[in-house]
Amino acid sequence: MKRKSVETKFSMCVQPSFIIGTYNEDGSYNFAPITWVSATCEGGNEYMLVISMFGSKRTKQNVIRDGKFSANLVNTSMLPLMDYFGTKHAKDGNKDELEYGVGCGEVLDVPTLDESPWVYECEVARSVETGESTTFFCPIRNIQMDENVNCEDTFDVDLTLFDPVVYSGKYHSLGKMLGKIGDFRAKA
Ligand SMILES: Cc1cc2nc3c(=O)[nH]c(=O)nc-3n(C[C@H](O)[C@H](O)[C@H](O)COP(=O)(O)O)c2cc1C
Repeated sequence: MKRKSVETKFSMCVQPSFIIGTYNEDGSYNFAPITWVSATCEGGNEYMLVISMFGSKRTKQNVIRDGKFSANLVNTSMLPLMDYFGTKHAKDGNKDELEYGVGCGEVLDVPTLDESPWVYECEVARSVETGESTTFFCPIRNIQMDENVNCEDTFDVDLTLFDPVVYSGKYHSLGKMLGKIGDFRAKA
């Protein structure tokens, strides 16, 4: 592979798409897409979502104040919703120009999106400030998964069943499921 060096501004490459659900100070709900999302593990089955927010957006203020949120995986049919939530700032008014169903977490009191096939309910354990961004380390207290999908274990998630949106500055859909850990070592 011949490569060329480019400016570091091209760092948006390969991000998962989640819509974050929080409560505002007055108890109303708010949703906004965040794609700076990853995961880590404290040990055992104690998984954490690692999520980063820039500036002083309402979602970030709500997460700092409330210490909890939902992360709703975005599938391709939710693209209009994600685009809308991401281009309207809560400070400019309620995000009520589109219709969408809102539920509640099963373990945490967090607003969730009915349309999402995979929802994390998270609490904030720690945060790290880097300039204008804050990165939150958030133990996952519950996962709501599409009831038509069965996963045997942590490594048995066929993403194609969820049809997730992948973001890189542009929206993409996923290609094929290629196999599991070890499948390709045998073929190397
Ligand atoms: C596809 C997409 C991905 C985004 N990812 C992030 C992100 O990772 N971190 C962030 O701080 N803002 C991100 N944003 C920006 C916020 O979603 C946007 O500022 C939103 O309007 C904030 O809404 P709020 O005012 O309700 O918090 C993203 C926007 C879009 C459209």
